[in-house]
Amino acid sequence: MQTRILPAADPGTPRIAADLIRQGQLVAIPTETVYGLGADGLNEAAVAGIFRAKGRPQDNPLILHIWGPEQIEQLCHRIPQKAYDLAEAFWPGPLTMVLPARSVVPKATTGGLDTVAVRCPDNEVTRQIIRLSGVPIAAPSANLSGKPSTTTAQHVLHDHDGRIAAIVDGGPCRVGVESTIVDLTEERPRLLRPGGITPEQLTAVLGDLVIDKAVTAQIDKDAVVKAPGMKYRHYAPSEPVVIVSGSREKAAAYIRRHFTPGDRVLCFQEELPLYEGCAPLAYGLEADVNTLSAGLFAALRELDDPGIHQVYARCPVGGGVAYAVQNRLKKAAAFHIVDAEAEL
Ligand code: TXA
Ligand code: MG
Repeated sequence: MQTRILPAADPGTPRIAADLIRQGQLVAIPTETVYGLGADGLNEAAVAGIFRAKGRPQDNPLILHIWGPEQIEQLCHRIPQKAYDLAEAFWPGPLTMVLPARSVVPKATTGGLDTVAVRCPDNEVTRQIIRLSGVPIAAPSANLSGKPSTTTAQHVLHDHDGRIAAIVDGGPCRVGVESTIVDLTEERPRLLRPGGITPEQLTAVLGDLVIDKAVTAQIDKDAVVKAPGMKYRHYAPSEPVVIVSGSREKAAAYIRRHFTPGDRVLCFQEELPLYEGCAPLAYGLEADVNTLSAGLFAALRELDDPGIHQVYARCPVGGGVAYAVQNRLKKAAAFHIVDAEAEL
């Protein structure tokens, strides 16, 4: 199959992409977070195609992308007021809500769960595609399973060339890490994955937020977890990644002491001069966390090279969007962190 590249700016693109979705084909779509691998979320055969193309475990459910909050009611029931409050505050935007699913949503989409994840993305062309297709679009991040997410059309082409019908090229994604996921099916709202909508923003609307343990710690692959995707090794280049925490100077001293040829350093732009001779790759500015979230996955993909032995990574501290960047980097590092301040 020839994978078509459809520029988002072409006026004919939404119609072509929507027709392909209606035919049960796979179409990669841009969103403000990452590119998604989209298909008709109500068509079991089309959804099966997503799992095949990604090599994704069947129990890992998909997010349904909708064009507006009014579509939630077709897909979900027992919708709490909190869901409407969050939609009002953050949609369209990088927020996914988990709610009880109506029977119209196939079990193939929900990974067998009786809940479904829904999100209204902040990308005009993609919302037009959803509207024209007339169905919710199921779309996981478009990377091959376990690999760093796709934040450009080129990343998607790299992973799926010749295996999907089309890629809508909307340029690089603005946020760069996947959406924040909040589970609203229990008494208390629960954060399942941090993202562009921060815990602080959620708490301001909800008044209460439980942080799921999968956000902060490594989860055993046999564990029962709320977001099945959280237990799989994720976002990871092929070689081991270790996060080195501590001050700029202490971290650089630690890394330079342990660095051997074939290793790489993933750092902040401000730190590049400290790593001369250590093959540093900067993923953004420490002073602007949005550049770090936008640049992280492209950098991790660049480091996904069997010739590399080990990656030493620098991670931003603090809350807000930094919390999401920490989560992705820690997962890429399988929670392997050394504290340069504590090293003698
Ligand atoms: O930003 C995003 O959310 C991107 C773009 C394309 O929208 N999509 C995305 O999808 O990141 P994916 O499949 O890579 O991650 C979805 C996560 C997985 O960890 C999955 O287990 C969880 O959402 N999830 C989906 N449905 C769920 C449900 N019903 N209950 C709990 N977790 C769910
Ligand atoms: Mg993913």
